[in-house]
Amino acid sequence: MSTIVVFGGTGYTGGNIVREAASRDHQVIAVSRSEPQEPVPGVRYEVGTVEDVAPRVVPGADVVVAALSPRGDMAGRLVDAYDEVARLSATAGARYVQIGGFSSLRPAPDQPRFVEGEIPEPYRAEALEGEATRVLLAERAPDELDWVFVSPAGGYGSFAPGERTGAYRVGGEIALFDADGESNISGADFALAIVDEIEQPTHHREHIGIAY
Ligand SMILES: NC(=O)c1ccc[n+]([C@@H]2O[C@H](COP(=O)([O-])OP(=O)(O)OC[C@H]3O[C@@H](n4cnc5c(N)ncnc54)[C@H](OP(=O)(O)O)[C@@H]3O)[C@@H](O)[C@H]2O)c1
Repeated sequence: MSTIVVFGGTGYTGGNIVREAASRDHQVIAVSRSEPQEPVPGVRYEVGTVEDVAPRVVPGADVVVAALSPRGDMAGRLVDAYDEVARLSATAGARYVQIGGFSSLRPAPDQPRFVEGEIPEPYRAEALEGEATRVLLAERAPDELDWVFVSPAGGYGSFAPGERTGAYRVGGEIALFDADGESNISGADFALAIVDEIEQPTHHREHIGIAY
């Protein structure tokens, strides 16, 4: 059993990870600024901003999951927030799992990341900020931090929650597509993959992608 802190534990991504981890008997601490609407039994909810709560909860963690989103008043603030959470995780000796975006992946080896090309305006700011959080880890993470940066499939999101199938694939920084050329993963299957990676750490200081 591990102690897992999930920043954004009441959100779409974080909420699914919290449910999956709690169902496997991990000790889970979910952090958000609002109370959960549907608390998961056995989960400890810490209400406050990432900046206020992180110094209290990260020192006791085995694993820290960062699943905030750069939207609303968090737009433009994610890199600084994650920089601090990553630093605290390194000091605590906690594994650090940071959720990013699909557009940080590449379509093929030696090709630019999607984020370097045309991104539709509604997604552009979030894609650029997600990429900045990847660069934070790839270029400035403390040497002792055991991090993994995770890009979900292109069709992933609260607009397409899907169902738990128990299936997923893990790739590197080249995007995975299914036989129909689609890039999808349900919220529950993405969380399954994350908690599997937590229980059996396979990727260290790497960028991975999760999709069907
Ligand atoms: N296809 C894709 O590439 C794709 C699609 C979706 C998401 N994503 C990525 O996945 C990550 C998570 O996105 P999401 O859609 O799951 O997010 P979400 O549903 O908006 O959830 C965000 C969570 O963070 C909490 N939060 C926000 N600001 C906070 C703060 N300052 N302090 C503490 N808690 C805070 C929110 O609760 P409160 O508001 O109550 O604080 C909520 O629990 C993001 O990096 C996003 O870019 C990628």
